[in-house]
Amino acid sequence: KANPRVKEVLSSLIRHLHDWAREVDLTADEWMEGVNMINWSGQMSDEKRNEGQLMCDVLGIESLVDEITYKKAAEAADVATASAILGPFFRHDHPTLPKGANISHDTPADAEPVYMHGKVMCAKTKKPLKGATIDVWECSTNGYYEQQDPNQKDLNLRGKFETDENGEYAYYAIRPTPYPIPYDGPAGKLLQLLDRHPYRPAHIHLIVLVEGYKPITTQIFDKDSPYLDDDSVFAVKDSLVVDFVPLEGDKTAKKQLKYDIMMAPL
Ligand code: DHB
Ligand code: FE
Repeated sequence: KANPRVKEVLSSLIRHLHDWAREVDLTADEWMEGVNMINWSGQMSDEKRNEGQLMCDVLGIESLVDEITYKKAAEAADVATASAILGPFFRHDHPTLPKGANISHDTPADAEPVYMHGKVMCAKTKKPLKGATIDVWECSTNGYYEQQDPNQKDLNLRGKFETDENGEYAYYAIRPTPYPIPYDGPAGKLLQLLDRHPYRPAHIHLIVLVEGYKPITTQIFDKDSPYLDDDSVFAVKDSLVVDFVPLEGDKTAKKQLKYDIMMAPL
């Protein structure tokens, strides 16, 4: 027996697809081009490249789903840190690092080292949360995440940390830079067909988990970055724009970001 929710979602999708074909008087050739794009996306994808997700993101689907989900969450918990899309470059399989570790393993000459730190707190009580995990990842200054780039060390610019008894986390990384999403596949083709650029504003990805709290998947964006107003995958939210400020007396970094994360109780 069909799952009623699955049936509801699929029936509506089919209805809208049919309406769309009628509305634009879709031709057989145009339809085949679309089918070819979907096949091309499958052929390009493997565990390092998720072209299907990239295509959906360029179409704004993942951001819209996040917006719908986040609106529901916002009703439940007033001031929790906002969510943002996961994107295609997350990896599961890496160990927890000690507080203060540097995740930049082969820092390029043009990178700006930064000290990242803050507290994970309960959004309701403002109590610090011990034992929260923070998983972070960002691309290098050449625009590639570590798994896309044979010249970066395994797990470069990727790390998992746990908060201490004061709810604090800390690590060294590099200041993120804007970069184009992969442009040589169907997602890039879609952008070209729409006269759109492939750039994303400088961002760092985060997943924060604590027992008893709603998990947060999000991204933070550098306030000085271009493309905050026209992110190619529509992920920017005002509350996620952050300010890197000077750091004095540190050997590794001359800039820092203090960023607290607010968790909504379940
Ligand atoms: C997408 C998201 C990212 O964070 C990124 O770096 C590249 C692409 C995306 O949503 O497709
Ligand atoms: Fe990203």
